Amino acid sequence: MVPKLILTGFMATGKSTVARHLARRLGWRLLDCDAEISARAGKPIHQIFRDSGEAHFRAMERSVIAEISSDRRRCAQCGHPRPAVIATGGGAIVDPQNYAALRDSGVIICLSARPDVIARRISAGVKARPMLAHGGMPVKQRIAELMEERHEAYARAAITIDTSERTVDQVVDAILDALADAYPTIVQALPSTAHNPHGPRK
Ligand code: S3P
Repeated sequence: MVPKLILTGFMATGKSTVARHLARRLGWRLLDCDAEISARAGKPIHQIFRDSGEAHFRAMERSVIAEISSDRRRCAQCGHPRPAVIATGGGAIVDPQNYAALRDSGVIICLSARPDVIARRISAGVKARPMLAHGGMPVKQRIAELMEERHEAYARAAITIDTSERTVDQVVDAILDALADAYPTIVQALPSTAHNPHGPRK
């Protein structure tokens, strides 16, 4: 069975963008947890935090992840389980219930980046990152604090790819290479255009 590929990791490590490109490369369905939560609430994530608080957001996140990870629907044409690439929000995997559900439904891939790279990437949009606006703490300090708090949760991923110095396509290639090493049977089941370690990459 081809499982789901789940992209997780700290804010601004590229999860949503890489998930979109990876899904396109594989011809798989893309599911973005934060986009789904936002669509259900009818407002952006930072407004959910502002209006209803973090606990409410986490409850929505838990229910979306439970639904997505238990989706066992099959393809109408071939009858096989429908594969998907899933992007989670940066805090999702910290919750043990979310972690267990995601681990059981596929391969968890953590995207990482150096704190200075994260600070640079989010510099224009700190207001849209409620977890970084914490008691007026300087952003770099808050990034370091949250990374330290979450270190163990992210370390449970099956594969970790550092995106600090890679383009989006290079991250997708690195994911497919790491999958080929750790899960050769999954890669054998992928479309031949997705993974060609000896040929040119598009
Ligand atoms: C969060 C990360 C955000 C979003 C929410 C909480 C976190 O997603 O889910 O603001 O706790 O790290 P991104 O990682 O896509 O920014």
